[in-house]
Amino acid sequence: MRASFFFCVCVAFVCASCATMTASTMPMTEEPPEAAMTNDVHSYALPDVARVTHVSLDLRLDFAARVVAGTAALTIERAAGATDVVLDDRGLVIEGVTDDDGHDLAFVVGPVSAVRGSSLTIALPASPLSKVTIRYRTRPDAEALQWLPRELTASKQQPFFFTQGQAILTRTWIPLQDSPGIRLTYDARIRVPQGITAVMSAERVDEGTAGDDVVFAFDMPQAIPGYLIALAAGDLKFTAISARTGVWADATVVDAAASEFADTEKMVAAAEELYGPYRWGRFDILVLPPSFPFGGMENPRLTFASSTVLAGDRSLVSLIAHELAHSWSGNLVTNATWADIWLNEGTTVYFEDRIVERLYGTDVAEMLRTLAWQDLLRSLAEKDGPDPRLWRALAAEEDPDEALSDVAYIKGAAFLRHLDGVVGRDRFDAFLSGWFNDNAFSSRTTAVFLERVRTQLAKNDDERARMHIDDWAYAPSTPPTTQPTSKLLAQLDSDVVKLQNGAAPSSVDTQSFHAMQWVHLLQQLPRTQTAAQMKALDDAWGLNADHSKTSNNEVRFEWLRLVIANHDERSLPVLENYLVTIGRRKLVLPLYEQLATTSWGREFAGRAFERARPGYHPLTIAGVEQTLAEALSEKPTSP
Ligand code: BES
Ligand code: ZN
Repeated sequence: MRASFFFCVCVAFVCASCATMTASTMPMTEEPPEAAMTNDVHSYALPDVARVTHVSLDLRLDFAARVVAGTAALTIERAAGATDVVLDDRGLVIEGVTDDDGHDLAFVVGPVSAVRGSSLTIALPASPLSKVTIRYRTRPDAEALQWLPRELTASKQQPFFFTQGQAILTRTWIPLQDSPGIRLTYDARIRVPQGITAVMSAERVDEGTAGDDVVFAFDMPQAIPGYLIALAAGDLKFTAISARTGVWADATVVDAAASEFADTEKMVAAAEELYGPYRWGRFDILVLPPSFPFGGMENPRLTFASSTVLAGDRSLVSLIAHELAHSWSGNLVTNATWADIWLNEGTTVYFEDRIVERLYGTDVAEMLRTLAWQDLLRSLAEKDGPDPRLWRALAAEEDPDEALSDVAYIKGAAFLRHLDGVVGRDRFDAFLSGWFNDNAFSSRTTAVFLERVRTQLAKNDDERARMHIDDWAYAPSTPPTTQPTSKLLAQLDSDVVKLQNGAAPSSVDTQSFHAMQWVHLLQQLPRTQTAAQMKALDDAWGLNADHSKTSNNEVRFEWLRLVIANHDERSLPVLENYLVTIGRRKLVLPLYEQLATTSWGREFAGRAFERARPGYHPLTIAGVEQTLAEALSEKPTSP
């Protein structure tokens, strides 16, 4: 089993035979009422009454106290008669709120919900006012923030700080209306100690000093949802890739990163050819330490990417294609609520695949598509697998990450591929360009997208019927569709059989393997191996070795699954080191879960987690704690 993208634990109706179900046996499903689809249950904001249109931040990073402190001045557009503005807040310490003239405004922090945090309601004076200024600071354990001490950075020169807002965590460091349906522009002044460089998802417009500190000023004049406001600070260096692309990273990795991501300009050009101009000016990449809880995050103008993708052979750069594609699907046209996340992620995976195909050819694109499809089938077949519907109502007390699964990503992309199969690529590409263009800088629901498919993409009833639109979106099963296949993976079939029949690993010609072929080969090996067989695999393929072809983090992940399955003592130090140095959820949570099914594994996991915890992000800590707690409440499957 390979991990699902975000490894959510969902209570879902699981249909293991989904892939084989025919259209006539599928439950007919229709679109839910509009009100159920436009309402963002995860935000307290009442934007029709009073809406934040701009935020001006003036913040200081206190690395010693792990606190962000300062002011957020919000520009508000209010309906006639509006008496207050409602914001989202999660754990902020609000010190005071003032109007344009510096007079205090009354405010109330509402009751705390574990998922949404609290409302922050500010009384608006009767006189027309343009701004309310909130003086506040964050808690040291704010979920959007990670503060890494300098010892845990690559060059160990300066501490490192970064934010991760998606889905609903921006409210843990900025008081605002934290809904993907509410867009705002922003500017910021960020004060940091000398020697530290701050970067944001915005244009840097100035740099100066204030006392002993350095101040960086930023401007984002394009309206974005709050989850895309991002800030990082540390010992950062910049290397240009092209006139409009480049890499920010720790000095010790910046050159390696620039070379790994050398194709970035080509990716932007390919994306523009496919779906229209790149509208954000620069496309830079910030390399985050391995504790970054995700592989990548599409912060506008400055994609955040985990250093775990720096494989040395550019084999994991489809992640950059993915985050770049979000510049259209996600950042330009945004999912209206988190129940619509497949619109962001599914469309992006489809778009990513098209970029990969242009740059690296059909064989590579097919291989990635096929591996992803296999992941989807595996996760749907799991006992606690994801809800198979692209859209379903989310409850207010349900974490929006519950809607994040292989379904949103892989089934979402497969739906668009299905549509392109029905109408042909030319028509589909024109349709998608039109969607991005007509809805630029707006947030849209699933219903609006599907209506456009129904009325503008489909030419006639026959096409509409073959699209199975409502079934793809709302039925708890996947309509019949062409399953992806891969020449590069099929090439491994005979090797797989040979190995399954006991051939020596060294007899396989792995010279020209792509990292993803390694992933596939390791996935196909029998789960039970003797200690001698594990040693033979490692000896032949360098699976535990540093700087080998198989030290690629995705390949090593597959190897470590086999190590855990066989309690391979001699590889446990490598496993422990992986868990302690990497904090990317997708790469570590499945290993903890697997470890937690045995008693030796639980003990091992507990020890590794204790060592790893100081370097983990709050989201990863929460994920591991949940995984281990759930495992303890279930019966172990073996000693
Ligand atoms: N936007 C997502 C990351 C995300 C989604 C963070 C929802 C928080 C909530 C990003 O674009 C993404 O999908 N990242 C993937 C990599 C990608 C290649 C599939 C990841 O981090 O694994
Ligand atoms: Zn994404």
